[in-house]
Amino acid sequence: MVHASRAGSLRDVRIATGWVLFVYITTHLANHALGLLGLGAMEAGRRMFLALWRNPVGALALYGSLTVHLGLALGALYQRRHLRMPVAEAAQLLLGLAIPVLLASHVIGTHLASQAYGVVDSYTRMMIGFWSRPDAAIRQALLLLIAWTHGCVGLHFWLRHRRWYRSAAPAIAGFGLLLPLLALLGFLEAMRDIGELVRRPGWVQAALANANELGREPRQALSALGDGVLAAYAAAVGLTLLARRMRNLHERRYNSIAVTYPGGRRVAAPRGYSVLEVSRFAGISHPSVCGGRGRCTTCRVRVVRGQAQLPPPSAAELAVLKRIRASADVRLACQLRPTCDVSVVPVLPGGVAAHDALAELEEFAGQELEICVLFADLRAFTRVSERKLPYDIVYFLNRYFESMSCAVEQAGGIANQFTGDGVMALFGVKSGVAQGCRDALNAAGAMLRAVASLSVEFAGELDAPLRMGIGVHSGWAVVGRMGRETDKYLTAVGDTVHVASRLQDLTRRYGCPLIVSQSAAAHARLDVAHLARREIAVRNRNDPVAIHVVGNTERLVFSGA
Ligand code: FES
Repeated sequence: MVHASRAGSLRDVRIATGWVLFVYITTHLANHALGLLGLGAMEAGRRMFLALWRNPVGALALYGSLTVHLGLALGALYQRRHLRMPVAEAAQLLLGLAIPVLLASHVIGTHLASQAYGVVDSYTRMMIGFWSRPDAAIRQALLLLIAWTHGCVGLHFWLRHRRWYRSAAPAIAGFGLLLPLLALLGFLEAMRDIGELVRRPGWVQAALANANELGREPRQALSALGDGVLAAYAAAVGLTLLARRMRNLHERRYNSIAVTYPGGRRVAAPRGYSVLEVSRFAGISHPSVCGGRGRCTTCRVRVVRGQAQLPPPSAAELAVLKRIRASADVRLACQLRPTCDVSVVPVLPGGVAAHDALAELEEFAGQELEICVLFADLRAFTRVSERKLPYDIVYFLNRYFESMSCAVEQAGGIANQFTGDGVMALFGVKSGVAQGCRDALNAAGAMLRAVASLSVEFAGELDAPLRMGIGVHSGWAVVGRMGRETDKYLTAVGDTVHVASRLQDLTRRYGCPLIVSQSAAAHARLDVAHLARREIAVRNRNDPVAIHVVGNTERLVFSGA
């Protein structure tokens, strides 16, 4: 098992070496694209390309990165406890593994031939070869496209959680499509030039002589070397797969643990698996909005047996658990690697198959959006419900939730969670945070009016009019889809959600219907001159949160409205 900090350093090395290779491919494609200006421009570009990559530093960076990147890929393949993975991840792995197969003969026929035999591996020489062997030309084009796609997908995986990425993605995607297209067109244009040149009598012979083209023996030697490299590579991949297979068999036989799920299902898995990996391994639904990165807490489980023997949470896991005020028996399934048999109960509902959760990542999960979150709760409703028949409560709550959903949706929000008599709603997911904050404050007013109407409607059943407390806060949150296949809903997780919930709690203390954070008020351009301002401490936050206490939502005024 790879320790978390070591895994982090290896990931950094993989990213750094990946960047070197990506820059190399970019410059290579750019050099091909010069073919659009003619073979001469391509050759001139090649001189700059070689100056960059065939000096001792450039060559070391290039081949060192290639070797390390490949080694890390095989290491990661070995580390994988199972090969179930999302399609995009599988495609990325296969593309990466295909690159050395196509690359070996190209490197040997160009750089090595140049170093060992003084061959001038110019575009002209290469193109003459491609002219006589179109299959080699197709293979070369395929190599560049595979390497480029692999690099672009890797870049996407790396950048997709950055806040700026969503807005920059169209420009990046445009570049990702344009460069290989120009390279292919340049390549074809140069082939057209060569097609004319090879018709001139004696031109090919002269060009090859100028390039110090290889004789039969060196060619055979390099070809044998290429075969050897391919065989060694195939052996390395094969041995990696064999080693992980043997490791898995050994672990399953001598070193396995069992995780028991609600309902008594017991899954034996090799020691070293995280609980989330065990769930995926066994095909058990387990929410994991952030894809197992320890950021969203949706995978959390309550450990009901074996807790005392478990390794303690890492500092990072502990910080996340503290943030949500989790009790001591709650752990993140993606971080917890049991060393003994345990029984766990996932805290959030199952029904989201592991592959679904990961597929959703592509669309929503892990997207950090600046949004507005609203929490609402009925005051003293428990007392009301204690004196009612369950049927009456269900009827009332259905009416209540219907009214709240209506108020939220008409204001432009998404009412996404109903727990007990509480409501959570998101605003600005599509329209942006400023509009979202204004919509949330309008929704708060509509919800309070709806509650007043319900009080009238149910006056005969209630001792006193219903009262509601609402908290509104804006900030960054991870937004994702959750729920069962047929009943998915959009939700958000993160500090912003906890603060909004806390503000709703505080309406009790301040005896008001609404508390809005200063950030949400500023985004909404709410006139706060007449509102009381406070600063409150929120657990696990260093800085206080500035809030405004709203006594009457009918008097809210927005500037610019
Ligand atoms: S999947 Fe475990 S914290 Fe997100």
